[in-house]
Amino acid sequence: MSTAIYPGSFDPVTYGHIDIITRASGMFDHIIVSVLNNPSKSPLFTVEERVTMLKECTAHLKNVEIDSFSGLLVDYAREKNCHIAIRGLRAMTDFDYELHFAQTNFTISKGDLETVFLTTDLAYSFLSSTTVREIASFHGDVSELVPKYVCKCLYKKFGYEN
Ligand code: PNS
Repeated sequence: MSTAIYPGSFDPVTYGHIDIITRASGMFDHIIVSVLNNPSKSPLFTVEERVTMLKECTAHLKNVEIDSFSGLLVDYAREKNCHIAIRGLRAMTDFDYELHFAQTNFTISKGDLETVFLTTDLAYSFLSSTTVREIASFHGDVSELVPKYVCKCLYKKFGYEN
């Protein structure tokens, strides 16, 4: 069975992430979407909230599992007996970081963790969780950017309706 991990912060999950998850779920038998629990960052949503949002938004994809992890991705992948990480590439601006990340993971896993890049659908190439958080923080309309359930969570977090 082919399994791939799609790791990320997902703070919150956007239509760009959903597009990558959907396409990856058609390429592999099993996808584990895993939220990084990083205590050194102060995310908008807790890990539990991010996991719940991901579960709600991917419930229709039967081969997708939602999880969370702490520490190094290579250690988590080994624990899951998984040798492929998926990352989305929106634009050249992502490339430097993603190349470094993929090469580092390949090296420190001693060749055990490959990274497969999926290029983001053009419709979402401008989209990031940071942008979504900023718009929502100013009580803007994010309904074109994130699924309905995530919209509701954002409106609740920032105390408004749209
Ligand atoms: O959505 P993001 O913030 O771009 O995701 C980044 C993420 C979570 C995939 C990455 O930061 C990660 O896997 N961190 C875990 C720590 C790690 O394995 N670092 C690798 C050495 S550079």
